[in-house]
Amino acid sequence: MESIREDKNLQVAIVTGGAQGIGRGITAHLLETGYAVTVADVDTQAMEECRDLFSSGHLLVLKTDVGTEPSARACVSETIRTFGHLDALVNNAGIAGPHTCSLEDLSLADWEKVIRTNLTGVFLMTRHAAPHLRSARGAIVNMASTRALQSEAHTEAYSASKGGVVALTHSMAVSLGPQVRVNCVSPGWIDTSQWKRKGLSGLVTLRDVDHQQHPAGRVGKPEDIAELVRYLLSPAASFITGQNFIVDGGMTRKMIYVE
Ligand code: NAI
Repeated sequence: MESIREDKNLQVAIVTGGAQGIGRGITAHLLETGYAVTVADVDTQAMEECRDLFSSGHLLVLKTDVGTEPSARACVSETIRTFGHLDALVNNAGIAGPHTCSLEDLSLADWEKVIRTNLTGVFLMTRHAAPHLRSARGAIVNMASTRALQSEAHTEAYSASKGGVVALTHSMAVSLGPQVRVNCVSPGWIDTSQWKRKGLSGLVTLRDVDHQQHPAGRVGKPEDIAELVRYLLSPAASFITGQNFIVDGGMTRKMIYVE
């Protein structure tokens, strides 16, 4: 690892929630394009699978709860100790929260759990990564959701957390610029079933109508998000900061009044 630490040309990224789902797709794509990647996650089984799947790349897998400050701090410092510097942070970790619970029944504990992981986690990881990203003139991509902009019933905590991520993105872009660019991706429906750990993978069967209702003709894939994340982290995106990119196959552009 000594030679890796001294390789200033190696691009180094942390991907939170990088062990499965969209995050695993981002991890795979960044490794393929030459990044060293720290996967920061809480799911030990998914993390173990990543170690096996990506054994040929520069990969560090760290048990990290993004919503807990000592854990976020340790993730950044261990990444620096291993790879020597940090160029990119992908704040992707997120939990869905109870989607069947009415506003009146949503407990404060459940509300706070979702906000802590999805929003406070972005703040904590960024706070500890910022000095290193500044020195590297790096970039951040945060994962929001189209639910920051539109809702189904009973999704208050999740929607609020993702609305917070969109606002935090432009706020951090102004505060951390010009050294660090900060952007945000808002996915619509992304089928992660092939990218989940064993026991959770392959459980979803998509119907024709699931695809057809999208103006783009299909449900999204983690690869759709990973490619945009890679672009936003790259020097090719050096004039783009503070923005929210919606990747939803056109669903938020479609009117759905009953005829
Ligand atoms: P997922 O559940 O498949 O993966 C999320 C990963 O985050 C898991 O490996 C989980 O262990 C990890 N995680 C959860 N809490 C954590 C914590 N406190 N610290 C570190 N890691 C933690 O989820 P998915 O679907 O891949 O979502 C990834 C991101 O994209 C989330 O932020 C989610 O809100 C967002 N998103 C997903 C959409 C979808 O359709 N899949 C749509 C819109 C947004």
